[in-house]
Amino acid sequence: MESSKTRRRSLIGTFAERAIRLIESRIGEKRVSSAEPPSSDTERYRHLRITRITNETPNAKSFYVEELDRSELSFRAGQYLTVEVYLDGRVHRRAYSLMSPALPGAARAFTVERVPGGKVSNHLLDFYEEGMLIRARGPSGDFTVERAEERLGNAAVEEIRFFAYGNGVTPIVSLVETLLETSTHLLSLYHHVPHGEPRLFGNRIEALLKAHPDRFRDQRIESADADSIHHLIDTLWSLESSAKPLVYICGPRSFRERVSLALEEVGVRRSRVFEERFDSPPTLNLVELPEEPQRITIRFGETVRHVEVPRGKTILDAGLDGGAPLPHRCMIGDCGSCAVRVQSGEAWSRSDGPLSQRERERGMILACMSHPLSKMEIEIP
Ligand code: FES
Repeated sequence: MESSKTRRRSLIGTFAERAIRLIESRIGEKRVSSAEPPSSDTERYRHLRITRITNETPNAKSFYVEELDRSELSFRAGQYLTVEVYLDGRVHRRAYSLMSPALPGAARAFTVERVPGGKVSNHLLDFYEEGMLIRARGPSGDFTVERAEERLGNAAVEEIRFFAYGNGVTPIVSLVETLLETSTHLLSLYHHVPHGEPRLFGNRIEALLKAHPDRFRDQRIESADADSIHHLIDTLWSLESSAKPLVYICGPRSFRERVSLALEEVGVRRSRVFEERFDSPPTLNLVELPEEPQRITIRFGETVRHVEVPRGKTILDAGLDGGAPLPHRCMIGDCGSCAVRVQSGEAWSRSDGPLSQRERERGMILACMSHPLSKMEIEIP
């Protein structure tokens, strides 16, 4: 039996830990705010209050958030928040998908899964508590039905097929639950859960199946190897009715590539396929980065900022920490929102992401994927 002394110690320990975490959270906010961009870009940041934290699996939690005035966060199903965490003396930014349905009155939450060796996700999971404030940007992202409507105009959509790998089901469960309430589409989920891992949102998916047996189908993908994916897609599309389904894919690059290739082979048009990435694109030719910090000048309109970029830090992180209002969303070279124009100097980019050849020829680089190789001047277009 636990002695009163032990209990007192553990209570003191708990209290001290909570105090440290609260202070840490506030230090984070304070230091972040000292680096807040000076322009209207600041308006796109917000502080959100964590109202509840739920365990989704032993390795994943959902953080329920609300605006400081207690109003509902406005977002589209399938979007994500870019969350800032102050850790090890600097601000880190990571994108997390919102898992809740985009329905009035539904509590808003984003989901974080533990990453082996991952700093930011693990810090959020281990140290953030209900009542703390979190600084976030967004919601952002085009993995939405609204984007499909923009792209396809009035083309009839009767069915949507979702392909998810592991925690790639997070934005998809938000889309499915929202669409079951707001549309008449038939929805099918094909989900691969890596061997030995619990299924994220398994209970919620079961409940949706029970509530909508005529409109929602759920099938597990037992093996995500190329042959199995091809076989699944061949079978599904050979049974296809006259209406062409929309397809949403979320998961690691190898999974997305396999699904995309199989879809291409059965004749699905690219315009009907939407992908969401959780990982960075493959790294282009590696180069040796300079040991010394490089000085970059960032111009936006009439304003100029000078920042030092230490080895290993991206132009985006250094610029934001130095107060330059560099646009950004995904932080993984996917969305293209952080594109800047190089006016002088040289950078190495891990990836050019969605930049076209023409944009690259005009000196555009992705700030979230780029490191300076020399003194540089860049412009925010
Ligand atoms: S922030 Fe999305 S590509 Fe850089």
